[in-house]
This record gives sequence, structure tokens and C-alpha cells, in this order.
Amino acid sequence: MSTDSLILRRPDDWHIHLRDDAMLAAVLPATAEVFARAIVMPNLKPPVTTTAQAAAYRERILRQTPAGSGFTPLMTCYLTDNTDPEDLAAGHAEGVFTAAKLYPAGATTNSDAGVTDVRRLHRVLERMQAIGMPLLVHGEVVDHDVDVFDREAVFIDRILRGLRRDFPALKIVFEHITTAEGVAFVRAAEGPTAATITPHHLLINRNAMFDRGIRPHAYCLPVAKRERHRLALCAAATSGNPRFFLGTDSAPHLRHLKEQDCGCAGVYNAPTAMACYAELFAEAGCLERLEGFASEFGPAFYGLPLNADRIRLFRTEPQAAPPDLVTPDGEVRVFAPARILGWQVERLASAA
Ligand code: NCD
Ligand code: ZN
Ligand code: ZN
Repeated sequence: MSTDSLILRRPDDWHIHLRDDAMLAAVLPATAEVFARAIVMPNLKPPVTTTAQAAAYRERILRQTPAGSGFTPLMTCYLTDNTDPEDLAAGHAEGVFTAAKLYPAGATTNSDAGVTDVRRLHRVLERMQAIGMPLLVHGEVVDHDVDVFDREAVFIDRILRGLRRDFPALKIVFEHITTAEGVAFVRAAEGPTAATITPHHLLINRNAMFDRGIRPHAYCLPVAKRERHRLALCAAATSGNPRFFLGTDSAPHLRHLKEQDCGCAGVYNAPTAMACYAELFAEAGCLERLEGFASEFGPAFYGLPLNADRIRLFRTEPQAAPPDLVTPDGEVRVFAPARILGWQVERLASAA
């Protein structure tokens, strides 16, 4: 296979933050242009906790979706200590909710209303297991006495192993994994277990946050880890193991909210995500495995059909880094390491 051009089934993004209002309008085109579907995170202010809220949010997204993109948002429920299993199951049966998201309270952006103790979710998780509704997990403990670089590994031992054991048939997606421990857990877990891997965690390690100075645009949660963890993520993503698939965690924040005394966590990568993945798979010498990771393993895990459209990825001379995205409230920096700048994406006319 040529390393300069490849055609693949149109991908899906199994983890994205589309936000709302003006930010939604600004970020949606980049995702809808390339990805056929996306699992939309529910951490709005206030969070999306009911079927009615999710249906309304889906309408707002569809209203902003560019005509002809064929993009479908897949909605998620933000779990709280008070989630009603009946509403959740009804929302799933109606096709409003595709999955539900567990944020440990305080773990990340807009997670204050999250779950304070997973034992409170027992009835909810039993119901999800019974109806085949996937549980998506932000896998970090929130204890401030646990080192920020250890919070994912500690979460596996304190929370995730127990969840996996107590709900053996529950579909669990360990979102945006960042560690060798996360990779090992997902590889070995019994029961339906998968993980999403982001472009940025494949391309940068924690040094990127401290490159000759503090770099707020490389800061996200979970934070990037040591190089050996990045290498473990690359090996997992390019292995062809269907438990690992694409989820960008594209998480836009206005520049002035990242570049301040207490900067927000999140990397905005939607416009460059496929270029990042292509470069990584090309560097690993296995571009032929990108289609499984980007377009096949996610639908298989979620039990959804494959997309029929195709995209083409091709390499050109290195291009200029993309400019900041402009919104009415300020700019958003686009994640774009120099080595990905030759890759272009093009949607091919559908066969139909
Ligand atoms: C996300 C956000 O900004 O909503 N931030 C991030 O750093 N990843 C939240 C999340 O996915 O944890
Ligand atoms: Zn998260
Ligand atoms: Zn996220």
C-alpha cells in the first residue's frame, strides 16, 4: 500500500465535546465534514441528565449541522447520584440515548454534578447491563492526595476492576486512556470492554506541557503521561485489537480561558484528528490498520452498522498550521504538531 494516499470507510468519533450555542456552531463543521457519527459528551452547563434534555440538545446540534454532511450525533446521559433508571432506559429505547457517561464528581471539566460513589449507581448499571447500553467512563480518581499522573492507574484498581467484576455483561468503554496500565486492563479484561484513544495522547507525552515554558494548550485530562505510556497507547491503537478505537476527546476552550491563572483542561483537535491518526499509523508502518481503528471497531462494539461512505487521506507538502478557530467570544487553538501538517482529508462522493 502506498503510504501517501489511502481510502477508508468514513470514520466515527466515539468521544467528542461539541458544547452548545456559539461554540457548537463554530466547532461542528470540522467534525461533521469528516466523521459520520459522534458520541457527544453530556458535560454541558448544566449537564445533560435526562432524555428530554438530550433530545433538545440533539435538536440544537442537528439545526447547526451543515446540509449534506450526513452527520448523526449520538447522545449520552450524564450520570449523577440521582439518575433515574426508568428515564435512562426509556431514553435508550426511544433512540435518544446511545450510552451513559460516568464522571467521578470533580474529575474534569463540568463534572461537579457527577457521581460521588459508584455504589450509588448499582440499580442504574444493572439496568444498563440488562438493556445492552454502554457505560462510558472518565477513569480518574479525584482524591487530591493521589498524584495527578497516577489517577488513572489508581482508578483501575479502586473502581474499574470492581465494576468489571460486578457487572460482567455490561459494555464498558474506558475513555481517553493515557497509561500502559489502561492498555493492559482493557486487553485482559473479561466481558465487553473497550477504550478510546485520542490523537494528542498518541502524539505527545507530558514533556509537551513544559516545553521551554508552560504550555496550556497541551493540558487536558487525563494529563499526558511519560513517553513509555505514549508508546503503549501507540502499540494498542495500531495493534488491530478491536478493543481500541478512535475517540478524539476534542474539547474546545477559548484561548483566554486556557491561558490564565487556572487554565481549563482540554485539547481542540477536531480539524486535525484524522491527520494525527494517519501520521501515527504511517510512522508505525501499518496504515492498513487505520480503517479498523477509525471506522470498524467502534461500530462493532456499539452494535451499530458500518458507514457506507468513504474518505481519502493523502499526503502533500507540509502545510501551514491551521489558524485559531474564531468564535464570537474569542479564539480556540487547534492542536497541530508540525509532523502532521502534510496530511489532508477528502470526503468521497457516496456510491449511492
Ligand atoms: C474535557 C472537557 O473540556 O470537557 N476536557 C479534557 O481535558 N478532556 C472533559 C473530559 O473529557 O474529561
Ligand atoms: Zn474525560
Ligand atoms: Zn472528553
